[in-house]
Amino acid sequence: MATKKSVTQQSISSVLSEERLFPPPDGFSERNSIGNARALARLRTQAAANPVAFWEEQAQRITWRKPWRRALQWKHPHAQWFVGGKLNAAENCLDRHLDSWVRTKAALIWEGEDASQRTLTYQQLHAEVCRCAHALQAYGIQPGDVVAIYMGMVPEAVIAMLACARIGATHTVVFGGFSSDALRDRINDSNAVCLITQDVAFRRGAEVDLYSAAATALKKTPSIRNVLVVQRSPLQRRLKPGRDEWWHQAVARHEGSHAAQAFDAEHPLFILYTSGSTGKPKGICHTTGGYMVHVATTMDYVFDISPRDVYFCTADVGWITGHSYIVYGPLSQGATVLMYEGAPNYPGPDRFWDIIARHRVSIFYTAPTAIRAFMKWGEQWPKRHDLSSLRLLGTVGEPINPEAWMWYHRVIGQGRCPIVDTWWQTETGGIMIAPIPGITPTKPGTATMPLPGIVVDVVRKDGTSCKANEGGLLVVQHPWPGMLRTVHGDDERYRQTYWSDFPKARGREGWYFTGDGARRDADGYVWIMGRVDDVVNVSGHRLGTAEVESALVSHPLVAEAAVVARPDVVKGNALVAFVTLKAGAGTDDIDALRTTLRNHVAVEIGHIAKPDDVRFAEALPKTRSGKIMRRLLREIVSGGTVSGDTTTLEDFSVLEALRAGEE
Ligand code: WTA
Repeated sequence: MATKKSVTQQSISSVLSEERLFPPPDGFSERNSIGNARALARLRTQAAANPVAFWEEQAQRITWRKPWRRALQWKHPHAQWFVGGKLNAAENCLDRHLDSWVRTKAALIWEGEDASQRTLTYQQLHAEVCRCAHALQAYGIQPGDVVAIYMGMVPEAVIAMLACARIGATHTVVFGGFSSDALRDRINDSNAVCLITQDVAFRRGAEVDLYSAAATALKKTPSIRNVLVVQRSPLQRRLKPGRDEWWHQAVARHEGSHAAQAFDAEHPLFILYTSGSTGKPKGICHTTGGYMVHVATTMDYVFDISPRDVYFCTADVGWITGHSYIVYGPLSQGATVLMYEGAPNYPGPDRFWDIIARHRVSIFYTAPTAIRAFMKWGEQWPKRHDLSSLRLLGTVGEPINPEAWMWYHRVIGQGRCPIVDTWWQTETGGIMIAPIPGITPTKPGTATMPLPGIVVDVVRKDGTSCKANEGGLLVVQHPWPGMLRTVHGDDERYRQTYWSDFPKARGREGWYFTGDGARRDADGYVWIMGRVDDVVNVSGHRLGTAEVESALVSHPLVAEAAVVARPDVVKGNALVAFVTLKAGAGTDDIDALRTTLRNHVAVEIGHIAKPDDVRFAEALPKTRSGKIMRRLLREIVSGGTVSGDTTTLEDFSVLEALRAGEE
């Protein structure tokens, strides 16, 4: 029984014990745009027979200035969608709502951590975006130029993104939790000409000095010509003259209307850096037309959104969820987006529930790691608030363990709200696998089935389909409109990372490999098991272990480092670093050194990447060819017993079996 295979089989069957099925609640599907189960089945059949025709149909949701000539041009592994079509993404989020009643309703309701509030109607948001667009154009920014955005969760972050889209500049948002060095590298890789930032951001009552971090980065970013700084704190500070300007001065000069130019469907909309299996983050490139169609469609099908909803997505605009499901998706649909600046437990662990009750939020979208934290804090916190306005709940970012799903369903949804567990990636642009609320029966722990128009399979390494409940690799077999187009400046890496595992071969078009392990159950539901590459999700943040390793070895005392993940009850995964020190490096105070190294990673990448544990070793276990035996290290760190829900732990051993060729 000790063989790898038997461990895998055992694990799979124990995870399989999840058999609860939740039928759609009565009445929910009445206004759903698909209708009923029969209509959905028909839509699936049609879309499977002709995915391109399905997406062409969906593209009607978007306002085009010029119709496309060809819906899909596919030259493996490069896709172009809606070729010849022209549109403006900002116009699709704003201007198109100005001739209906939506014009005067809230587009953005913002709540600061300090309880300050701002509401911008569609008309007001439009005016702000227009002013900012003029300000950027006054800097000489041209279509195709890259603008970096390094901000916290303030309305100006959304305004800045839409202003870029309006003038055809490509934005690259760098999460405000990243360090100065991480910002510098992303600016240099993207060759950004302008940076939009703010003086400070608020997090758990403390100020995060974004401007100082930006100023340090800017010493080594020759491409940046202009810096626009939003003032969030009343404290005055000096900006660098000539280069920097306050937002409220630069933007206020301009008028609140702006004639938007239409851009090609394939015009680059944004670059978003994400972690991969090397030390260098990848600049994922998304374009305009297909992306807008994908996010608009999923907002309707998966979130059932309408202009009457108040929709609260807790992601940060620095991640893909913030791009697709705080900005482009919901605004394209005329929804009211609730945007919250700070931490979920500030000033108390009920901040989110308080927000939901006061703003009568109807749709709430968060991450499993947050749900596990809420569980830990206790159900007395949500119970203090009136959550009766909620009608739909969503999760994203990592597999949700059934225990957390049940808690979310019972305590937050009060047994009334469908849960949409949405599987997707920075690379996919929009949601790929998710239930249709009100139609698809759900099971705790699975994102259920691919959306119509999305073709996925779970396969073995040789490309053959897995049997029901056999663990395998998740692939996407047909191009989809929101897909990434390339890796910025490195098309070879794009080919290698996503398209080399299942290349074009006889009888096969060449498939996109997601990097995730999964299984399909007998009902065809997809259960994601987690990453099979060296990418880990820590508290919903996507990190590359190689990035953390290269940060560690950049410390003068470190000779070698290997970073692996271990399952963690709240964070999903926690990082454990094994470090060997250089000969002669003093190790008198191990605890101090541990702190030094963790802080060093925070400086190199950001606090989110700090290893939870640093272990020192004389040598790292290696194969004869000199490869570090990460599998062994992972076994060591996950060997301890984990109390509570162990689903993640069990899947861990399945993943080990799926990881190829690693000794
Ligand atoms: C994981 C976030 C299970 C998965 C939008 C994927 C999920 C990675 C789910 C992408 C889910 C995301 N169930 N796993 N519902 N959603 N993942 O790029 O491993 O930050 O490959 O995009 O998160 O993370 P990223």
